[in-house]
Amino acid sequence: MKLKIPYQDKITLGYSLARSAHFAVQQFSLPIFEFLSTGKRPKRPSLEPQNLKKVYTELYSLLKKDSENIARGLYPLEVLKPENASEHLRRYPRIIMDGYKISKRRDAKNQKDFQGEAEDFLKDLPDYYQRNFHFQTDGYLTKESADLYEHQVEILFSGSADAMRRLIIPLVKDVYPGDGEGLHFLEVAAGTGRLTRFMKLAFPKAKITVLDLSYPYLKKAQENLHEFTRMDFVQGAGEDLPFQDEKFDLVYSCFLFHELPIEVRRQSVAEAYRVLKPGGLMGLVDSVQKDDAKDLEWALEQFPVDFHEPFYKNYTLNPMEGLMTYRGFGNINKNLGFFSKAVVGQKPAQGEEKEPISS
Ligand SMILES: C[S@@+](CC[C@H](N)C(=O)[O-])C[C@H]1O[C@@H](n2cnc3c(N)ncnc32)[C@H](O)[C@@H]1O
Repeated sequence: MKLKIPYQDKITLGYSLARSAHFAVQQFSLPIFEFLSTGKRPKRPSLEPQNLKKVYTELYSLLKKDSENIARGLYPLEVLKPENASEHLRRYPRIIMDGYKISKRRDAKNQKDFQGEAEDFLKDLPDYYQRNFHFQTDGYLTKESADLYEHQVEILFSGSADAMRRLIIPLVKDVYPGDGEGLHFLEVAAGTGRLTRFMKLAFPKAKITVLDLSYPYLKKAQENLHEFTRMDFVQGAGEDLPFQDEKFDLVYSCFLFHELPIEVRRQSVAEAYRVLKPGGLMGLVDSVQKDDAKDLEWALEQFPVDFHEPFYKNYTLNPMEGLMTYRGFGNINKNLGFFSKAVVGQKPAQGEEKEPISS
């Protein structure tokens, strides 16, 4: 029997708020290094008092919902397990050094800055991917980039990235309420495997195939997830999945679609549809889009300027729900939290499939 801890949701919320404050402090220290690197102090709308208030109200709601989900048993308390403190602290100086280089790259608007190992990987990858997303050093193509990535994302979102990733779990539990026994999931663009960990904790008996275009990120995911069984790791592209038709019960991704050109977004949705069993579920977590967040427009405009994101504007204007409906997914359901939303849609059951709606 599961032991019920009194006030568990309040305790976990307290912990999550403290964790968020810890990352927010790291976030607010980065402009100092930007100033040292470029001599500039750009005016950021995110620092205006009315916007700050909105951001922290939304952040609080997300963390509260996350704590309630844990208390309801949708995913275990273990999702909040902190990483090793000494590893965390030893990484911070590397993040500062990288922040310094990112600021220089941003200032020079240099989005194609690759050397050595990263340059070698580039040759076999699609054109749209051959860039330093977020002005990130080596893009997604070195071990160092993979080592820093999760920590950098938590700094960017003031310690809310993990809770945003978990927004998808309740939507999947609505369709697959158990422990995942007999189910096969595919995570596309899994990066270093952060959401994969949470899915594995929520669905311990599911098999998960983990896919990403980046070899160094996939290696890091394998390292991060070494304690789990029933997993395999495949290098590949979401728009050209190396799998047979109707293989998976769930195909999902996190923070992928805003980095893809529209035609690749469409093709990735079509590929998810193809490899799903009839009745299977496609899911995603990504940035909110224009129709979701009227009062966050300033943030949707600022984000692609600060972090090299050439396809983001188009992404915000083309709702993912529409792309999924167009391809034939039904029962669309979504969950919003802070700057993200999770969306799921179901492939029709056998014999009820439809051709894509013609535009
Ligand atoms: C912003 S990161 C998100 C990583 C991870 N899902 C997370 O929650 O942090 C984007 C990831 O998508 C991968 N990626 C980008 N385009 C891809 C594609 N077409 N197919 C597969 N992976 C892709 C990148 O290599 C990178 O690991």
